[in-house]
Amino acid sequence: YFIYDIYILFMKYLFSFLLYMAGMVVTAQTVIRSGELWPDDRGQHINAHGGGILCHDGRYYWFGEHKSDNTSAALVGITCYSSDNLSDWHYEGVALPVTDVPGDDLERGCTMERPKVVYNAETGKFVMWLHLELKGKGYSAARYAVAVADRPAGPYRYLRSGRVNAGIKPLDMEGDMAALDTLDAWKDDEWWTPQWRKAVKDGLFMRRDFADGQMARDQTVFVDVDGRAYHIYSSEENLTLQIAELTADYTAHSGRYIRVAPGGQNEAPAVFRHGDTYWLITSGCTGWAPNKARLFSAPSIWGPWRQHPNPCRGKDADITFGGQGTFVLPVGNTYIFMADIWRPKRPSDARYVWLPVTFEHEMPVINWHDEWTLDLETVGKE
Ligand code: GAL
Repeated sequence: YFIYDIYILFMKYLFSFLLYMAGMVVTAQTVIRSGELWPDDRGQHINAHGGGILCHDGRYYWFGEHKSDNTSAALVGITCYSSDNLSDWHYEGVALPVTDVPGDDLERGCTMERPKVVYNAETGKFVMWLHLELKGKGYSAARYAVAVADRPAGPYRYLRSGRVNAGIKPLDMEGDMAALDTLDAWKDDEWWTPQWRKAVKDGLFMRRDFADGQMARDQTVFVDVDGRAYHIYSSEENLTLQIAELTADYTAHSGRYIRVAPGGQNEAPAVFRHGDTYWLITSGCTGWAPNKARLFSAPSIWGPWRQHPNPCRGKDADITFGGQGTFVLPVGNTYIFMADIWRPKRPSDARYVWLPVTFEHEMPVINWHDEWTLDLETVGKE
């Protein structure tokens, strides 16, 4: 009988242990608290700002700007973290580091912002796009930079940086170049006058930069269901967004591009597709200070893009919850809006806002939640 009792006891423990394990699997839920410190697997606050997420083979890869304690300039480079539940992040290291080569594009002290990585199924390569400013030149370079890797976490091989689509007119530009040349009359004039605003809308800065290529600052990359990819960036002195198609291997611009909301001063673009509608969330241009998010939709990536009211609701909804958007991550049948609460006095302490995007009357809505739970089992991955 003693042996039997031991056996029963053992089975009881085994049973409760199995139940406990099963509970852990079933409740594989991700609790997300925006605005708080978010420790990685080393216990350090995740340092991947202005970031974006790639899902590859069931694992999520988060790329972002490494921020230092005292400067927003790049002293380290673009970091990468990986996770299979979007909550516990493993530090993968620096995917694209700065260099110590004087005069190099990526020289330590340059500005590397808003990196986004996409996977090209044809080449099997991972392609990173980012906004690059040259060391000591403020924000005047306004360049894209592109790098490639064989594995999602890198290391990434730097290809080049530059302005976009030099010598090419946007698809949606009406009138010939001669008509645009008349806009030059405004180029040295005072900004913000009604005539200047009209000239901006008509393409004043697109024309100014025509020969050398279009400016590219705040940016994202979007891959459509047909495998075509697009670079979406603040251009024309941050006054106008542009959407430029990438080549089949995603490492260059194809030459096809449009202007979105000319003169509308949009930054921080994040694009997602829900059904047959393309959605674009942006911010206004107030530097590190938060402002009201803007929402646009279009039936095609090529437009026409139409603006809607601010999608944010709840506490601080009129300043995007204190943040500025950076990415919308599709997760199974849902979407997560990601934003950055910048801390320019201590850049490394910048926080993350991650909130679910829901739909009301077929329009995206972003409600504030102190805390919310993402159930990956229910929504599914990728
Ligand atoms: C913000 C932009 C950031 C960064 C900052 C610099 O408007 O979204 O990515 O460039 O300005 O002041």
